[in-house]
Amino acid sequence: WQKIAPRKASDPPLVFHWLPIIGSAIWYGNDPINFFQTCQERYGNVFTFILLGRKVTVALSPKGSNFVLGGKSIAFNAEGAYTHLTTPVFGKDVVYDCPNEVFMQQKKFVKFGLTTENFRAYVGMIEDEVDEYMKKDPSFRTYQDNDINEWGSFDAIRGMAEITILTASRTLQGPEVREGLNKTFSQLYTDLDGGFTPLNFLFANLPLESYRKRDRAQKKMSDFYVDIITRRKQNPDGDHHYDMIASLLEQKYRNGEKLRDHEIAHIMIALLMAGQHTSSATLAWAMLHLASRPDVADALYDEQVKRFGNPDGSLRPMSYEDLRQLPVLDSVIRETLRVHPPIHSIMRQVREDVPVPATLAAPSKDGIYVVPKDTFVLASPLISQVDARIWKDGAQWQPSRWNDADGVAAQALHAYTDEAGEKVDYGFGAVSKGTDSPYQPFGAGKHRCIGEQFAYLQIGTIIATVIRRLELRLPNPVPEHNYHTLILMPKDPKSIHYRRRKFD
Ligand code: HEM
Repeated sequence: WQKIAPRKASDPPLVFHWLPIIGSAIWYGNDPINFFQTCQERYGNVFTFILLGRKVTVALSPKGSNFVLGGKSIAFNAEGAYTHLTTPVFGKDVVYDCPNEVFMQQKKFVKFGLTTENFRAYVGMIEDEVDEYMKKDPSFRTYQDNDINEWGSFDAIRGMAEITILTASRTLQGPEVREGLNKTFSQLYTDLDGGFTPLNFLFANLPLESYRKRDRAQKKMSDFYVDIITRRKQNPDGDHHYDMIASLLEQKYRNGEKLRDHEIAHIMIALLMAGQHTSSATLAWAMLHLASRPDVADALYDEQVKRFGNPDGSLRPMSYEDLRQLPVLDSVIRETLRVHPPIHSIMRQVREDVPVPATLAAPSKDGIYVVPKDTFVLASPLISQVDARIWKDGAQWQPSRWNDADGVAAQALHAYTDEAGEKVDYGFGAVSKGTDSPYQPFGAGKHRCIGEQFAYLQIGTIIATVIRRLELRLPNPVPEHNYHTLILMPKDPKSIHYRRRKFD
C-alpha cells in the first residue's frame, strides 16, 4: 500500500483509530453498518477512515450517494477501485480491464441481449429448473415423497445458490453451460468464486493456493466459453437462440468491429459472477423472511391463486407479462433489497481533488472539505435505505409498505427534512432511480446495474414457484448479516422448514 499522505486542513474528519495502518479495518470489516451509523452520528455524513493503508472517504445520505455516484467518472473512477479484484476473475479486455468508453459499449451489448422476447422464454425455463431441483435434491425428500404432513428442511444459502446458478445457466448462459454444470464447470465456478472474497479485494495477488486456483480456473473457464463460441460459429443453427452468447455474437463496436471471442467469453464470466451472489443472496433473504412471516407468504400464495388458479385447485403456468402484475411478489423483492442490498459499499478511486458541497457536509472553520486525489470514496446506499428519518420503521422488513391500499407507501417513503434543512419529498410509492435516491440496491449513475430486470424475473419466478409448492416456517429468528463475505449474506442458522402444499 501507498504511504498515507499527511492530513491537510481541508481533509474531511478522520475516524479515530489506534492502529496506524490497519486503521478502522477491523470495525468496518466486522460490521460496516454499525461502523457507518456510529461515525455518521459522530462526524456527520462525510468522514474519512483508514482501511489497511488506504484513505477512504465515506459519503452517506442520499446527497452522499449523489456526490459519489453522480460524480464525474474522471474524478471518481470505478476501474481504479475494482480492477485488481475483477480482472483476474473475469479476464482481459472487458469491464474494468478496458477503457471505460469500451466497457460502456459492452454494457449496451448486454442490454440488447436482455430482450422482452428472451424474458418471455425464460419464465418457463426457470420454473422447470426449480421444479427439477426440488424433485432431485435430497433436502426436498418429504416434498418428493408427496408427504403433506411431514416437515422437511433446506439450507437457505445452499438451496438458493444452486437454484440461481441452474436457472441463470439455463437462460442467460445457454445450454452448453447448463450441461457443463453437471460436469467440470461446477468445480471451475467454485474455484473462480474463491477469488471473489474480501481478501482478494484487499490484495490482488498473494502466494496462496486460492489465488493459484482462481488463475487456473479463469484460464480454463475462458477456454470453455471460447470453445462454445467456436462451435456455434461452425454450427449457427443450434438450440440457443435466447441466450447472451447468441446476442453478443451479433454485436459490433462503434468502429464496426465485432467482439473478439475472448471478449465474449470474459463478458459471460462477468455476467455469471455479477448475477450469482447478488441474486442468490436476495433469494435466501426473501425465503428466510417469508418463512418467518407466514402472513406474507400466505398473501403471496393467495395472489398466485387469484391470478392463476384453475377450478380444480391447480395453478396454471406464469408468463412474463403476468409476473409484472403481481404487486405482492414485487413488494417482497423490493423490500428484501431495501433491507438487505447485496452490495453494502460502492467504491471509487479519486483521480483529482474534489470539493465536498456545503449542503452535504457543513464546512469546518478552515472552509469546505476536499476529498484528496489518490484516495478512495465510498457510498453506502444501505444506510439511507434503512434510515428511520426516511422510512417508517426503517429496519423492519415490511413488504406491504410498498403497496398499502390505504397508506399507499405512506409507510414506505415520505417527505422529510434532510440534514441541510432542505425539504425532500419523494411522493407516495415513487422511488426515483436517480443518483440522489434513498433507494439504490442496483446502484445509480454511469455504473448502474444492467441486470435489474433479469434479476427481478429470475428472483420473482423462483419465489413464486417455491411458494406454489411449499409452506415455509422459520424455527429461529431471521439471521443477522454476515459481513465477512463480499456480498451481504445471512449468518447461521439459516435452515428453513417446509411442508408440501396440498394442491401442488
Ligand atoms: C452493477 C447490484 C444483478 C450485472 C451493479 C451495481 C450494483 C448492482 C449495486 C453498481 C456497482 C457500482 O456502482 O460500483 C445488483 C443486484 C443484483 C444484480 C442487487 C441482483 C439482485 C445483476 C445481474 C447482472 C448484473 C443478474 C447480469 C446479468 C451488472 C453489471 C453492472 C452492475 C454489468 C455494471 C458495473 C459497472 O458499470 O461498473 N449491480 N446487481 N447485475 N451489475 Fe448488478
